[in-house]
Amino acid sequence: MIIQPHGGTLVNRILKGSDRSSFLEKHKAARTIAVNDRTVSDIYMIAIGGFSPLNGFVTKKEYDAIVTSMHLTNGLVFSIPITLSVDKATFTETKQGETCALKDESGTVHAYVTVEDKFERDVRHEAKHVYRTEEEAHPGVQKVYEGGPYCIGGPIHYVNESPELEFPENNLTPAETRAEFERRGWNTVVAFQTRNPIHRAHEFLTKCALEIVDGLLIHPLVGETKSDDIPSDVRMACYKVLIDKYYVKDRVVLSVLPAAMRYAGPREAVFHAIMRKNYGCTHFIVGRDHAGVGNYYGTFDAQKIFDEIDLHAFGIEPLKFEHSFWCKVTGAMATEKTSPSTKEQRVFLSGTKVREMLQNKQIPPVEFSRPEVAEILIEWASKK
Ligand code: ADX
Repeated sequence: MIIQPHGGTLVNRILKGSDRSSFLEKHKAARTIAVNDRTVSDIYMIAIGGFSPLNGFVTKKEYDAIVTSMHLTNGLVFSIPITLSVDKATFTETKQGETCALKDESGTVHAYVTVEDKFERDVRHEAKHVYRTEEEAHPGVQKVYEGGPYCIGGPIHYVNESPELEFPENNLTPAETRAEFERRGWNTVVAFQTRNPIHRAHEFLTKCALEIVDGLLIHPLVGETKSDDIPSDVRMACYKVLIDKYYVKDRVVLSVLPAAMRYAGPREAVFHAIMRKNYGCTHFIVGRDHAGVGNYYGTFDAQKIFDEIDLHAFGIEPLKFEHSFWCKVTGAMATEKTSPSTKEQRVFLSGTKVREMLQNKQIPPVEFSRPEVAEILIEWASKK
């Protein structure tokens, strides 16, 4: 039995066939609201059920509940408010009950929103509660401030028949990953969120986790990330070469998560877990400084936040990992739990360190990355 989606029903807001054409006909004179790439990605994630139980952008009631208590008003855990920001003129002109087209910069209408609620948010309050900082230097907070105070809440109706999906051959919707897990006979599946190439530490976590479940979903986030993160096409090449040589193919599914990165550390770890539950996963890896950026979060804050949640009701189980490193004594990846080494006998890796090495055209050592992965990264770095 595959795990239930968050809230019990997998949301599907995609209009098709005659439903779609009659909807479009009915709303052909609808007001247009301009949306940026991040919102386009939110729209798609809502439409395919990745953000279930949300069927649209949050209303004021849900917004307040999420921001201050990390729950929806029905008591379900939800950690990041998915808001639709509009400019002041649109905010003033739109009426409750009105249905508006959501159009991107290139002119594509992705979906329509039925305005259930209009509200002003306090962006600093949101930043403090969700991101634990009000500093604009934080990339997630910056986006909240850019969005501004004016929000529209309400359900969406997805109409784009040909969304531009990256990596279409590895871009399964929640319904599709669920079907794939079922086909493979997997009951328990661990998801691995990442925005980096898979280095030795990541490989270690995924394989430890795989020892206790049926299958592994390598689920790299490929939506909007910081400009200094390694581009998703380079990362995809790394994942493929690694899985090909170092994993048991029957036990791994590689598929991308087309969501934007928010760098909200602990709150985002919970959000990442919710999404993976919707994709049909029963377990979720949370290691050191999950979804962190700079020094905004403590190394294990993203693990501790799960202590505030009723995990039984939550459904998906966080698998918490210590900081892993290469141990020179045992000649293997390890953590403090398994390695008798002294600090000097440990090789710690970090994505930042690897990026620095690549910038200096240095090949990451085997204790950091498999040679095949290092090769792809160095080739990319040499072209920059
Ligand atoms: S993240 O923003 O997606 O969290 P990253 O791709 O670096 O960044 O991490 C993916 C997952 O691996 C996260 O759960 C993170 O906590 C974990 N992780 C990364 N490096 C280590 C490490 N050396 N030890 C333990 N966990 C790690």
